[in-house]
Amino acid sequence: MKKLLDKLNEVFSEAFEQAGYDKSFGKVVISNRPDLCEYQCNGAMAAAKQYKKAPFMIADDVVAALKDRNEFAKIESVKPGFINFDLDGEYLASYVDEMRMDEMYGCNKNEQSDKVIIDYGGANVAKPLHVGHLRSAVIGESIKRILQFTGNDVVGDVHLGDWGLQMGLIITELKERKPDLVYFDENYTGEYPKEAPFTIAELEEIYPCANAKSKEDEDFKEKARQATYELQNGNAGYHAIWQHIINVSVTDLKKNYDNLNVHFELWKKESDAQKYIPDMVQYMKDNNYTRISEGALVVDVVEETDTKEMPPCMILKSNGATLYNTTDLATIIERMKLFDPNHIIYVVDKRQELYFTQVFRCARKTKLVNEDTKLTFLGFGTMNGKDGKPFKTRDGGVMRLENLIKEINDAVYDKIMENRDVSEEEARETAKIVGLSALKYGDLSNQASKDYIFDIDRFTSFEGNTGPYILYTIVRIKSILNKFYETEKLENNKILSPKKESQKELMEVLVGFNETIESAAKELAPHRICSFVYELSNAFNKFYHDTKILACEDKEEKDSYISLLTLTKSVLEKSIELLGFTAPDRM
Ligand code: ARG
Repeated sequence: MKKLLDKLNEVFSEAFEQAGYDKSFGKVVISNRPDLCEYQCNGAMAAAKQYKKAPFMIADDVVAALKDRNEFAKIESVKPGFINFDLDGEYLASYVDEMRMDEMYGCNKNEQSDKVIIDYGGANVAKPLHVGHLRSAVIGESIKRILQFTGNDVVGDVHLGDWGLQMGLIITELKERKPDLVYFDENYTGEYPKEAPFTIAELEEIYPCANAKSKEDEDFKEKARQATYELQNGNAGYHAIWQHIINVSVTDLKKNYDNLNVHFELWKKESDAQKYIPDMVQYMKDNNYTRISEGALVVDVVEETDTKEMPPCMILKSNGATLYNTTDLATIIERMKLFDPNHIIYVVDKRQELYFTQVFRCARKTKLVNEDTKLTFLGFGTMNGKDGKPFKTRDGGVMRLENLIKEINDAVYDKIMENRDVSEEEARETAKIVGLSALKYGDLSNQASKDYIFDIDRFTSFEGNTGPYILYTIVRIKSILNKFYETEKLENNKILSPKKESQKELMEVLVGFNETIESAAKELAPHRICSFVYELSNAFNKFYHDTKILACEDKEEKDSYISLLTLTKSVLEKSIELLGFTAPDRM
């Protein structure tokens, strides 16, 4: 559907033209003085300069050209030259009614569908998910859903970190603990056991232990480096352990991501890109993209306009070892080969921005991507505790995501049990759904690049700009609709012209849905949807508080309310689906 503002822009453009002015002045905006009018056009102010005429004269001409149109309930020119107007109720209602019948509630698909890969999640195998990974998963999932809804072909890739020193650390520690395992027997030629020699709990204990050791014991660290090298260069026993680590970790990660309602189409790993590296290095050398700097192989990525220092992108260390960069560049090659995307989006901590600038420039310079392939770094800020420092457990340790989710769910559970008498079981189930909304909305309602303060009390509150408040509104609508359908049928589903202010305001918020989704998709900004659902929930609740919906005596009017409620519910539900959470039936 054409956006309402675009329709109004057209009407105004025509009027400017008709009155003898350039149509580009016919631009309408939502009023910033809602006490005076709903919309305004300030084009006459700008046109005054070009036509050397008083702005109010131009505004008068335009208003005269518009006065017989059916779009406006009131339109006036106001000195020094503004055009203020309110929409006609009938006109507004017919737009809303059209939204009701549209399967995308007025939203539009991209004219040209993009093939997009979103690199998000970014968990590292064998290390438990911590809150630092939360933001990537939550933001990435929402962006993926928004881009899919707007008609793009999108795949999400978790891009697991499975190729670094952490693998060597685990192998070395395991070897010290259980030297007799067949994996460490150099003369072993048989098949390795299918069963992993550790559980996820053991694995999660082994890694931090090995990591701590490596910080104190240089000898241990060297062994771990050596083990990493051997793993990467064909040691069969180590390779078998590595495979076990991945299997055990991925099973656990899937469970955790499922709990977050985050789902990846692809479970690719850093190791999958390794096979592209030798050819890539050769290609870069052959085409003279590289040079040697202190023994290392690098590609210069500095540009004339740089104001800050831009170090070259290192491809191979002086000892020939590959780096994080090398893997990311090879991953680009793999993605181009397997998917030929026209856009790759990386949802990663903003502290990696410089790194990604280097990688992107290097990929462009060496033509690993097409000229029109977009590469976007979406860097997110840190989740801080109330003290303004990165979020930690009470005793100062790294908070595990599982524990964080549990804390939120418990807080919501207590609130539910305080307020009403539902069974403990139902309260637990509901708390999971509501808790997830608290967690995700608390994150997504901030602009991604900003740091934010994680505040359980505020996030789980049923009032204010929170996930639970939005769900509460949806549940309220569901319950009214249920009550209605228990005793009645809808005879006419058309949405009629609003009779009261709060009803009109609700409609006016609703019509902004397509605009909101369009800008959220364009700017990769889920927080736009959060602001919209908050505004919509407020508008609905205001309408609800001053309207007798089920007790309305005029059947036609009542049916129209029900249709308006149904549309409001659909738009809210679609919005939270795009944010990555759902609403319960009761709460
Ligand atoms: N595993 C990395 C980390 O924990 C994030 C990966 C981000 N994606 C990428 N293509 N580098 O920091």
